[in-house]
Amino acid sequence: MTVKTFSEALSKEIEAQTYGENPVELYEPIRYIMALGGKRMRPLMTLMATSLFTDDWATALKPALAVEVFHNFTLMHDDIMDNAPLRRGKATVHEKWNPNIAILSGDVMLVQAYELLMNIEDTKFKKAMKRFNRTAAEVCEGQQLDMNFESHEKVTEEQYLEMIKLKTSVLLGFALELGGIVAGASDKSCSLLYDMGLNIGLGFQLKDDLLDVYGDPEKFGKQVGGDIISNKKTFMLIEALERATGDTKIALDKWIAAKDFDNAEKVKAVTLIYDQLGIRQLAENRITSYFDKGVDCLNLLKVEEERKSELKSLVAMLIDREV
Ligand code: IPE
Ligand code: IPE
Ligand code: MG
Ligand code: MG
Ligand code: MG
Repeated sequence: MTVKTFSEALSKEIEAQTYGENPVELYEPIRYIMALGGKRMRPLMTLMATSLFTDDWATALKPALAVEVFHNFTLMHDDIMDNAPLRRGKATVHEKWNPNIAILSGDVMLVQAYELLMNIEDTKFKKAMKRFNRTAAEVCEGQQLDMNFESHEKVTEEQYLEMIKLKTSVLLGFALELGGIVAGASDKSCSLLYDMGLNIGLGFQLKDDLLDVYGDPEKFGKQVGGDIISNKKTFMLIEALERATGDTKIALDKWIAAKDFDNAEKVKAVTLIYDQLGIRQLAENRITSYFDKGVDCLNLLKVEEERKSELKSLVAMLIDREV
């Protein structure tokens, strides 16, 4: 089995999925965002986690799709909150239609995620549902903290890590754990999978923050510099605020306090400050260390080593990603 095997089975499942017809304004944005693709790494993680324990990983296809639909719902709403023009190289739903449409289509996607989870066998359903509900509430908590922090002058690294754990990592943890639950794996194995996802999620969000500054606009598919424009308290900004002294500190504070500014000018100036302070390397080191911790959890899992190879390849792809 290769990453491609899972990926093709997943694409087929997604293409076969129907979301509803009328009113068209409610359902068309769902087809739009789902067809834009993205990496689809969360459902891949679910399938691969199931296949650690059983060859019958196809039973995890619908639950895996639930995770992807939920993720896309969070993106639709996140793009309104972040005032983002681009998603996966195309106009965001609230730009292409309008914010009300993005709110309501997102809402119904959450319902559809539940519908898809209902395909889980009765004996496992309650555990899956309990874990999903906790995760979904935590993602909202993380998203609210992310918004709150935009206007906080001082956010510590610890606060930042807690915020990204909630908005991003818990869903990666759940995606992997769900694979274990569907396969009927032990609580111990499920909990190792969850921890693996938490660590990979921290590395993944740090990398997302890094790409937001240093990504190639042609490949990244999102507006580069969006986090700088909105004063997101990313690892990079927190480190820069900590390390900057003298004129650099004055300049950084000035850009953060600025109300009227040219977006491109602010992005260029703050990026230059990051360059001068060596923030990129600092972030890269942290990213590697979180991904390594994630793989350590996988190594502790008591299943045949050959079964772990697809998940390991997926993690390697995520470390090197440019999208
Ligand atoms: C974007 O997630 C949101 C974050 C948690 C950073 P992905 O980078 O997985 O987005 P897609 O689904 O591949 O587009
Ligand atoms: C988003 O974090 C996390 C969720 C959608 C829950 P970001 O706001 O950094 O994600 P992108 O960069 O827009 O994909
Ligand atoms: Mg956001
Ligand atoms: Mg965003
Ligand atoms: Mg981002």
